[in-house]
Amino acid sequence: MSAALAIHDLRVAYRAGDPEVLRGISLTLEPGEHCALLGLNGSGKTTLLRAVAGLQPFNGTITVCGIALQRETVRDVRDRIGFLFSTPDDQLLFPQVLTDVSFALERAGRPQAEAREAALQTLEALGIAAYAERAPHTLSQGQRQRVALAGALVAQPPLLLLDEPTASLDPVGRDELAQVLTRQPAALLLATHDLAFARQVARRFIMLEDGKITADTDAPAHIEAAFARERRVF
Ligand SMILES: Nc1ncnc2c1ncn2[C@@H]1O[C@H](COP(=O)(O)OP(=O)(O)OP(=O)(O)O)[C@@H](O)[C@H]1O
Ligand SMILES: [Mg+2]
Repeated sequence: MSAALAIHDLRVAYRAGDPEVLRGISLTLEPGEHCALLGLNGSGKTTLLRAVAGLQPFNGTITVCGIALQRETVRDVRDRIGFLFSTPDDQLLFPQVLTDVSFALERAGRPQAEAREAALQTLEALGIAAYAERAPHTLSQGQRQRVALAGALVAQPPLLLLDEPTASLDPVGRDELAQVLTRQPAALLLATHDLAFARQVARRFIMLEDGKITADTDAPAHIEAAFARERRVF
């Protein structure tokens, strides 16, 4: 089986001639592997996730489930990815929660009734079925984040890219999310500042510093040491 994600020598500069903000990233995620992406503000986590989702021009190669990401394959690649932005409002598009969550399935050709049933099940699994009829803009920030997560999970994609999914969650929501993610059979790349959460969900920890991987380990203590090193800089 091909890797869920294979990245080789990924480089990103936001504008031609600007310094690269990702400076030669290589990593492979096996199917079902859960990996946390850690690093200080501006280290490149979001840029990396956006590049994999086909939202950011890059140099190097990105391969998702055996498909090399290119202009012609971006749709096929996105069909294999569930993506959660750190700002959920960017991805809640429809006037009703249930419609929003079932959209990913309807777009993939599933009949509407079936898509809505699956969407409802996903909302139930995330403890938010009560919001199914609501308009996303009437929900709180944390509630909207859960709805956006439901949209990322509903089609059961083999690769999940989550950007700070706990940012607006209360402690209960955070623990529930950890349980939901731990059970996910998909490969997971989780950008977060929440090391305790990362330890609950991930078995592998990658540290980004200034656009480079400086640790790739199954021992979170190595990551804590890397943060401690950074702290001494100030
Ligand atoms: N649209 C943009 N245009 C120009 N530079 C950008 C843009 N977005 C991000 N950058 C720069 O790219 C670098 C990496 O940013 P990125 O958002 O990937 O970091 P991050 O690790 O996700 O940070 P945070 O922890 O704050 O979310 C930073 O130096 C940032 O200033
Ligand atoms: Mg970010």
